Amino acid sequence: MSTFLLIGGTGKVGTRLAERLRTEGAAVRIASRTGGDVRFDWRDHATYASAVAGIDGVFIVGPGSATDWSPLLSEFLAVAAGAGVSRVALLSARGVEFLKDGAVALAERAIVTGPLEWTILRPSHFAQNFTEAMFVPVDGEVAAPVADGAEPFVDVLDIAEVAARVLLTGSWPNQFIDISGPTALTFDEAVAVLAAELGRPVVFRNESAEEHIERLRAAGTPEGYIIWRMAMLGGIRSGRDAYVSDGVERVLGRSATSFEDWARREAGATR
Ligand SMILES: NC(=O)c1ccc[n+]([C@@H]2O[C@H](COP(=O)([O-])OP(=O)(O)OC[C@H]3O[C@@H](n4cnc5c(N)ncnc54)[C@H](OP(=O)(O)O)[C@@H]3O)[C@@H](O)[C@H]2O)c1
Repeated sequence: MSTFLLIGGTGKVGTRLAERLRTEGAAVRIASRTGGDVRFDWRDHATYASAVAGIDGVFIVGPGSATDWSPLLSEFLAVAAGAGVSRVALLSARGVEFLKDGAVALAERAIVTGPLEWTILRPSHFAQNFTEAMFVPVDGEVAAPVADGAEPFVDVLDIAEVAARVLLTGSWPNQFIDISGPTALTFDEAVAVLAAELGRPVVFRNESAEEHIERLRAAGTPEGYIIWRMAMLGGIRSGRDAYVSDGVERVLGRSATSFEDWARREAGATR
């Protein structure tokens, strides 16, 4: 039986991936700073060796997109290779193209030039951002500087299933897999679907970029993360992120989950 280390395994993707891997009969070791099976902190090198002992493959969610953590990643990969780990999958982002020398692009480079066989997953924006992260409605409103830009929101469960297949089979060595939902929706369309499932009104407000940045600063958000987020949202606003990717079809041999089906399953269940 293979054992997989999930760094960032207590997050949105990691929890779903852990469940999937266990269902498929694999053993899972969940790592994070504050929860899971083993304490792991990218900024504490002493936590690397015990995390990788006895591990076959590693799934990596990084410590955020605000600052360059690629030197830590390179160091970790060397420790993992020394411990006999055979492959690594990195959760990157499709929007890496919108910030070419940002922390996410640098992390990808560390993986590609590192000692382990790798697969890089590049998902579009998560559907779950509307229920668990940055687009959760506040007082019935989702505000973002994206105008009528469309995005093929991806169901995190699809990402987890793709990641599980990649780790279990090793069939996508040294490849990038772009993953998205099956159709692009504008934010007006997305909140209409969400509102119908939540059973309460939700509206979208097209915020100015300045207003969005001010809101993030007031909440204490690091400047590096603001730069990354504005690049991602700028990609949506410009229409350049509206294209659909075929990662789910390629790896799982089925269509990606629609935003409507995701909303029915997860948002509708909270009613
Ligand atoms: N949201 C989107 O639309 C979207 C789209 C494409 C790609 N992505 C990418 O997805 C990733 C986020 O995945 P997610 O949403 O599943 O994560 P998440 O829900 O935000 O959870 C983050 C995880 O990382 C752990 N973590 C944070 N800092 C850490 C550190 N210094 N050392 C060790 N563990 C640490 C957290 O646990 P502790 O706090 O306990 O350490 C937690 O397990 C990001 O890399 C992002 O770029 C997101």
